Amino acid sequence: MKQTLLAIAVLFAVVAGAQEVNIIPKPTKVETQPGNFVITPATSIVLSETGLERSAQFLNDYMQKFYGFRLPVIKNGRSQKNNKNNIVLDIEQIDHPVPGAYAMIVTPNGIEIGGSGSLGTFYAIQSLIQLLPMEKKKSLSVPCVNIDDKPRFAYRGMHLDVGRHFFPVSFVKKYIDFIAMYKMNTFHWHLTEDQGWRIEIKKYPKLTQVGGYRNGTIIGRYPGKGNDMTKYGGFYTQEQIKDIVKYASDRYITIVPEIELPGHASAAIAAYPQLSCFPDEATKHPKNTVWSGDSTGKQVQQVWGVFPDVFAPTEYTFNFLQDVLDEVIPLFPGKYVHIGGDECPKDNWKRSDFCQQLIKEKDLKDEHGLQSYFIGRIEKYLNSKGKQIIGWDEILEGGLAPNATVMSWRGEKGGIEAARQKHTVIMTPGAWMYFDHSQTKKEKEDSVTIGGYTTIQKVYSYEPIPDSLSTEESKYVLGAQANVWTEYMRYPSKVEYMIFPRMSALSEVLWSSKDTKSWPDFEKRMLAELKRYDWWGVTYSKAFFDPANNIPELKDPALK
Ligand code: ACM
Repeated sequence: MKQTLLAIAVLFAVVAGAQEVNIIPKPTKVETQPGNFVITPATSIVLSETGLERSAQFLNDYMQKFYGFRLPVIKNGRSQKNNKNNIVLDIEQIDHPVPGAYAMIVTPNGIEIGGSGSLGTFYAIQSLIQLLPMEKKKSLSVPCVNIDDKPRFAYRGMHLDVGRHFFPVSFVKKYIDFIAMYKMNTFHWHLTEDQGWRIEIKKYPKLTQVGGYRNGTIIGRYPGKGNDMTKYGGFYTQEQIKDIVKYASDRYITIVPEIELPGHASAAIAAYPQLSCFPDEATKHPKNTVWSGDSTGKQVQQVWGVFPDVFAPTEYTFNFLQDVLDEVIPLFPGKYVHIGGDECPKDNWKRSDFCQQLIKEKDLKDEHGLQSYFIGRIEKYLNSKGKQIIGWDEILEGGLAPNATVMSWRGEKGGIEAARQKHTVIMTPGAWMYFDHSQTKKEKEDSVTIGGYTTIQKVYSYEPIPDSLSTEESKYVLGAQANVWTEYMRYPSKVEYMIFPRMSALSEVLWSSKDTKSWPDFEKRMLAELKRYDWWGVTYSKAFFDPANNIPELKDPALK
């Protein structure tokens, strides 16, 4: 029955054509009016103020890509604001605590956009894009509509792990475009891992020469059916990173780089074994996994998991990390550096005489205290350079560093605790926000994933402000983010498959008002959204159409 209803709704949407307004994330207010405005190559984009060029450029790039033409841009066009056949971009005063509000009016004569700052105008362009027909032609009918819109949360993030698998610059840019089109504003770029160090550091060339490559990768889900015995890796040069940061900034997206410490450090240790408490010990891997190539000395990991060989809290390591951060800081203009802090086994610190001595000397309680000491030193260094740290919720253990923001991933407990301690929080609880989880039930699984079961319905149901926080405490919750760990995402198409359609739901959780939240309404708009995915040519999961998850096995090897 449900499927029949959905099919009828799809048919209706298709017959109704471009005149449906199906914007995701849902705007604050949408009033449809009769009639439409038709964009043709003769339509101009009129900029009433300076600073709106990026919005015009984004729209024109989209027009070129999907319709094969660009619109003329008239700068300093204040005097032409009232002429017909224009898309007028303007700045308006809109009183709202979170930046990015806008108003858009489409009449048969033209389109007027007033953004609260150039950011609001940019978000209006994203809504306009969703009003365009999904058909390549030279006259594009846009339904007449009045829209008022404003974001709910200040932090609206997507994460991507490029350590487990490496993705080319072109895909990172595509990913940033997705973030922009859903009115999100933060790209958390997980750049270092046990299985690969992905950022060029000029003072330590071996980080990428050695740490950027592994000799093989386990095949299939951990512990794997063998090893592909193939060297794998890659890294971003600092020039490429600058290019990506500029690309993101042109789309009003801040990049938060993550340099993992003190755990998940196998690749760095493979490059510089002195970073380990036990430089002479060979890298360990679980007995039930198959290893490729040299297994003596320190190696970049080929197996997924959490490993005991972590950074030693020595002066050598602190100098190394400060040197690394000295090269990272100028590349990323945003205020945050993510320092990881998760999944740092204490085994090596427990059996290291140096660490035990340090715990005594610094009067620390135990190895958790040592982790806090480690994070605290790094925080102090980054604060002295004008940066703030974000860390995974393990940074609460043994005491929070004074100015840290907590990313709550093991449920919401860490986030709640941090907010109560008056620390800012970003919610990424696994059950809702881990887009590496399956979208189908385990027994019906369509491709290998890390496990779990996080449907789009579940993502849509997420509320970033926990009930247990008071109004005052909830102010510390900046927003939320989905995490995309890539153990089982070898290719860009698989990343797309894992983020779509869940990212559409996330955008609505982060942007739209809680008061208008409605799954049936969202589901209806999702039907147009799926058409848009096809139009964009992105790969996505269709599991949500079929609550019983009777999904045929995927044939595309890239999705395996
Ligand atoms: C994490 O998923 N280890 C933050």
